Amino acid sequence: MQAGGTLIEYGQPIDPEVMVKPPDMAEFALDPGHPGEHDSAYVERRRELFYLCRKHRLENLGPPWIEYTEEETRIWREVAPRLDELHRKYACSIYLKAKDALAITQDEIPQLRPISERLQRETRMHLVPAEGALPYRTFYEYIARRGFPVTQFIRHGSHPEFTPEPDMIHDCLGHVPPLMNQDYAELLVLIGRAAATAEKGEHVLALKRFSWFSIEFGLMEEQGEVKIFGAGILSSFGEIPHAMFSREVTRRPFVTDMVIETDYDPTQMQKDFFIAPSFAFLREELTQLIRRLNIPVLPD
Ligand SMILES: [Fe+2]
Repeated sequence: MQAGGTLIEYGQPIDPEVMVKPPDMAEFALDPGHPGEHDSAYVERRRELFYLCRKHRLENLGPPWIEYTEEETRIWREVAPRLDELHRKYACSIYLKAKDALAITQDEIPQLRPISERLQRETRMHLVPAEGALPYRTFYEYIARRGFPVTQFIRHGSHPEFTPEPDMIHDCLGHVPPLMNQDYAELLVLIGRAAATAEKGEHVLALKRFSWFSIEFGLMEEQGEVKIFGAGILSSFGEIPHAMFSREVTRRPFVTDMVIETDYDPTQMQKDFFIAPSFAFLREELTQLIRRLNIPVLPD
């Protein structure tokens, strides 16, 4: 991770301060090159949802109820069944069980408020409305308090298979179902507490990578088979077969020291995957890492 005292992220040297002092994006903007940037109706809709969800987040109002448009529902109906077919074959068991229990259907875009109430009852987690991708540290500050930030907008219809940013499909079909599992929830909350407390940029980066190769892109061994639990894989119909079968990628056992030294590029298909034996194993690995980094979030 360190080369002569410099932190490297996404192949570039970074200022360690950005890891501990997140910037706040208060104004709405689509990134240049976004598939929807020249569609004024899309930009307007995104702007409306940005300020609505931001207000609900900052004022602790819980997820707003959204009236989805026909076009948004059409995109959901195109993507959700294709993903579901792949999930039935390749997703880990806790994901499939939770997806059914939450009754996330392929017909209607789910409303987050009832899902959040259900999570609260099952694992004491809840959903926090997010206007877009939050800075890493801010994101984990919510998770430390058992809230998972979730976007409520949908990707642009010209590229239903692709989104350059987390959207409702990534969040709701990737991140939300495993929150129903207590072991998964406790792992996530511990990452959040450590990441929100760490004072050194290099420690936050180590936790970020631990999280990336588990929560976002993790594989798990289940009854002798490799299954998927990472949200970034489960929400992408390109990434699922790529993670499972591509010959261009590495699939190695999850060894924390290796994981925290592995850089990645979030804008490309992933080339490194790690296979964990269980959530209990990941929790134990994380506990040891936190102890080693001396981050004061563990009971004595
Ligand atoms: Fe994600």
